[in-house]
Amino acid sequence: LATVKEIYRETNRFLNQKVEISGWVRTLRTSKAFGFIEINDGSFFQNIQVVFEESLENFAEVGKLSISSAIRVQGELVPSPGAKQPFELKAETIEILSIAAADYPLQKKRHTFEYLRTIAHLRPRTNTFAAVFRLRSVIAYAIHKFFQEKGFVYVHTPIITGSDAEGAGEMFKVTALDLAQPPKDEEGNVDYSKDFFGRVTSLTVSGQLNVETYCMAFRNVYTFGPTFRAENSNTARHAAEFWMIEPEIAFANLADDMNLAEEMMKYLIQYALDNAPEEMAFFNNFVDKSLFKRLENILTSDFVRTTYTEAVEILEKEKEKAKFEYPVRWGMDLQTEHERYLTETIFQKPVFVTDYPKDIKAFYMRLNEDQKTVAAMDLLVPGVGEIIGGSQREERLDVLESRMQELGLSAEDYWWYLDLRRYGGVNHAGYGLGFERMIMYLTGMSNIRDVIAFPRTANFCEF
Ligand code: 4AD
Ligand code: MG
Repeated sequence: LATVKEIYRETNRFLNQKVEISGWVRTLRTSKAFGFIEINDGSFFQNIQVVFEESLENFAEVGKLSISSAIRVQGELVPSPGAKQPFELKAETIEILSIAAADYPLQKKRHTFEYLRTIAHLRPRTNTFAAVFRLRSVIAYAIHKFFQEKGFVYVHTPIITGSDAEGAGEMFKVTALDLAQPPKDEEGNVDYSKDFFGRVTSLTVSGQLNVETYCMAFRNVYTFGPTFRAENSNTARHAAEFWMIEPEIAFANLADDMNLAEEMMKYLIQYALDNAPEEMAFFNNFVDKSLFKRLENILTSDFVRTTYTEAVEILEKEKEKAKFEYPVRWGMDLQTEHERYLTETIFQKPVFVTDYPKDIKAFYMRLNEDQKTVAAMDLLVPGVGEIIGGSQREERLDVLESRMQELGLSAEDYWWYLDLRRYGGVNHAGYGLGFERMIMYLTGMSNIRDVIAFPRTANFCEF
């Protein structure tokens, strides 16, 4: 018994030996006296070629197998005369485990990514999606490895929450009430005190506030889990459900935060190249021909660090040439087109933009001396745009309280968060890496729907 992966990785151990493989038929060609089947057993990116001859007991049935039928093959692994593969499996027996219906949608022809989204339950059987989702798994592991080796503690932050971590009001409500006949209060509003939790709750938009509490106990922590945003933006980079990696470090400032982010990005790129070489080569050949060049360039260069104010000056100078759709002016949020122009045209490498105006950023970010900007950082990368958002946190209780008041956030709702500032609060910082955007960046895939097994986006929640 062997897997295709073992055979490719340790060919010499299996060559001229009897092996047994179970897998699915990817292609099948026959002639009168013999036939070829390429089978894939899910263990590896490559297929194995099976050769079978007329002497096979069930030669006729095997020759008629439909694509995606499942078989178990026993035979000898021999050097292949063909140039396409180093070896092939000379079948002695082929047991038919399952015959696929003839209308199997993934026949030989190439399909568009749009079409494959409509069959998300079958698309992991294609080369592209097999590579994407294997890489996704490898990178999830690498993220844990990176932080665990540095001694960070992994904290499981809750999915259901009573507070809006970003203060942006983009939360999906969670309720056990029968909304067809909800209990109402005297004013006729839905009475959430009758709900299961006795209050309004939502799906988390970020684990940050919870992870900050553990940061004040363990020093260096991270969370890595699903997050939810009810933002109705129908773009190739936004999903309603996505995963986020959020480290939080104590006794640290914004520069420490950026250093950690840069080290992590480089680690993950190197890890992908070292541990998923076949998949990465596939992306470079078939998805984005400049992928390797781009990734290698990043491994060897320092990321750019520029302030929001400098970035706006650059963009204002370039706006005629760049023909932006949206205006650029100090105080306005940068649009995706601006972010991509900075990272793709001006600097041509990853760029940290820091010190944004406080009015366009979240309440928890540390106010700078100028009283106008906050110690925030966004990491922008070519091809994707914003991949990380982070900041140094406001550790001064009085400043945080007046900031929350300005924004109309109730101190009562965040009492436990404010407590952190009262009991040994120290300077600390953190960031959130969008996991799917990282996978897009590493693969060159251009739509977030194609790096999530079952995407949830505006008007789409099939499967
Ligand atoms: O910039 P964001 O909103 O930051 C936070 O949530 C902070 N609480 C993080 C922190 O400091 N701990 O989100 C962080 C990252 C973005 O840079 C982006 O990569 C990703 O999460 N992201 C999304 N990815 C896919 N779909 C969406 N709708 C996303 N919104 C944010
Ligand atoms: Mg952001």
